[in-house]
Amino acid sequence: MRKLYLALVGFATLTLLAGVNYWIASRHPGVSVPTAITSCIPCHIRVKSETDGIAASRFSKGSHPVNAAKIRPEKLSLDARDCGKCHQFEYTTWHESVHARAFTNHIFAHAVQRDREAWCLNCHTPLWSGNQADVERIIGWLAKGGIARTQMPAFIEQGITCAVCHIRDGKIIGSGKKSRDPTGKKHEVTVDKNLRTEKFCAGCHQFSFPAEVKPVVVYQHEPAMQNVVAEHLSLRKLYSDKRCGDCHYKGADHSLHQTTGEDMREKFQIRVKRRIHKPGEITYTLRTPPIGHHYPTGDLFRAVRLTLFDKQGNELYREEFRKEVRVVDQQLISDTTLRSAKVGESASVTKTLTLSAEAARCELNYHLQANIEPTLEKEGSLKPFIRKLADCRIE
Ligand code: HEC
Ligand code: HEC
Ligand code: HEC
Ligand code: HEC
Ligand code: HEC
Ligand code: HEC
Repeated sequence: MRKLYLALVGFATLTLLAGVNYWIASRHPGVSVPTAITSCIPCHIRVKSETDGIAASRFSKGSHPVNAAKIRPEKLSLDARDCGKCHQFEYTTWHESVHARAFTNHIFAHAVQRDREAWCLNCHTPLWSGNQADVERIIGWLAKGGIARTQMPAFIEQGITCAVCHIRDGKIIGSGKKSRDPTGKKHEVTVDKNLRTEKFCAGCHQFSFPAEVKPVVVYQHEPAMQNVVAEHLSLRKLYSDKRCGDCHYKGADHSLHQTTGEDMREKFQIRVKRRIHKPGEITYTLRTPPIGHHYPTGDLFRAVRLTLFDKQGNELYREEFRKEVRVVDQQLISDTTLRSAKVGESASVTKTLTLSAEAARCELNYHLQANIEPTLEKEGSLKPFIRKLADCRIE
């Protein structure tokens, strides 16, 4: 009796698995059952239940584009310039931001010519599938320049445009705050308080290395390729701590680095002090503005570099604050990023060093593409990728 029972249960389980397998294979060719169970289904449950808010529910960490037809059944405009007619302040500040150039900026244009994947477009110009043009054609628009560029529909050229974040199911989504200077006729607004939190930004700013990107995107679990949100949560001690929007969208300024008129990037500090009686010994203190995650964060190629030189201009000492991941097996080998004790506080580091000669000059720079600097130098285009982070003087 017991044997028969076990056989029946076994048979039923196998039939069910075969059924699930058949269903998945027929609807999504190229997707295996384990992938569907560990990756696709859990995320789709979150999407359907809108646990992270209606705005976040169209983001998939780059697994898919944002479906332009679905976000605007009522034909709201996908062109930022149309929103800008009434929301001038938000438009102007967004236009200066890297979100507005996420597709057309020189570095991305260069990188995507090499890795010609739909995966990249899903985050850098998420409405691309609305155009019915294929990936090759869209990437081709970037390569040609001139007249070819003018063929780009506005919602592709504009990269992370207003609609990507603010339109869902034919409604305009707001965070519940008032805009600065809207003119003209009002429209309906659906409030989603999560819009200004990490739950929303995570849709593009938190993801792992992909195991495969074709025919579907499947992410590995570790390590993170970009880890801003996990860093943010690990430092968020109290509920009242600042959220992404408090620093990067303060006063609805969309330029990303400003907190209403003040550029956060100008608030880094470096002090280097010489010891009078001990030639060669110095103490330096490096301090960030109030911050919400490690620094540098995001893209793995970013680095903060402190360099000390002697009187003749020879390099005496170099220290880098950054994360290093080995390319071959994607193992994290070191992480010296700066970090604060808590979201909203500065991160700082103080160190005393004994150098082989007396330090005469120093530099504190932000390197946007530290890993590929030799190549950029050969091409003669290194300069735009290094930015002074703070005035460094030796006291
Ligand atoms: C990180 C979350 C996430 C993961 C992982 C994910 N999806 Fe999705 N998926 C979404 C979101 C969000 C949408 C809605 C996008 C839109 O319509 O704007 C979506 C839409 C889709 C659609 C289109 C459905 C429609 O209504 O048009 C298909 C098909 C799909 N996903 C299949 C898959 C498969 C197969 C996998 C596993 C390989 C997968 N997804 C993994 C989040 C995810
Ligand atoms: C990357 C996502 C993103 C993009 C792109 C974006 N916004 Fe926003 N927007 C936000 C967030 C987040 C806030 C919330 C700020 C807050 O609550 O502190 C916001 C706030 C606003 C507000 C103020 C009301 C409110 O909800 O807080 C207006 C109006 C607005 N955005 C319009 C626009 C317009 C117009 C564009 C395009 C020119 C645009 N946004 C592009 C994310 C975005
Ligand atoms: C014809 C002018 C007009 C256009 C075009 C327009 N808006 Fe608005 N918008 C308004 C007005 C007026 C309000 C309401 C202001 C109020 O009640 O405080 C508003 C409110 C909002 C809000 C909520 C903030 C608030 O003040 O209540 C957001 C977010 C927003 N609009 C985004 C957009 C986006 C994105 C677009 C483009 C798809 C857009 N708007 C197009 C006039 C416009
Ligand atoms: C649809 C995807 C997407 C969403 C949603 C999104 N971002 Fe971004 N963000 C990007 C991409 C892609 C870039 C890089 C653009 C580039 O330089 O090519 C970027 C760049 C940035 C940068 C600047 C990095 C730099 O190098 O200067 C900041 C800051 C930022 N985002 C903050 C936010 C915050 C805060 C939110 C949530 C309110 C958010 N983003 C939501 C995709 C997104
Ligand atoms: C307490 C303020 C604060 C909070 C909260 C915060 N950030 Fe930042 N963030 C900063 C500062 C300061 C910088 C460095 C200066 C700059 O780039 O503007 C920075 C830099 C960044 C960068 C890199 C920009 C670059 O120049 O390369 C990204 C991406 C970013 N933040 C995203 C986020 C996201 C996503 C969240 C929420 C999970 C968040 N930040 C929360 C203050 C904050
Ligand atoms: C899940 C979303 C996502 C996907 C998929 C994605 N990116 Fe990004 N990318 C980002 C974000 C967010 C940033 C900004 C991080 C920062 O500045 O710290 C970024 C930054 C970059 C930068 C640096 C831009 C600059 O101005 O310095 C390049 C280059 C880039 N991405 C290329 C690519 C390419 C090529 C692909 C496909 C192989 C790709 N990205 C796929 C989200 C994504």
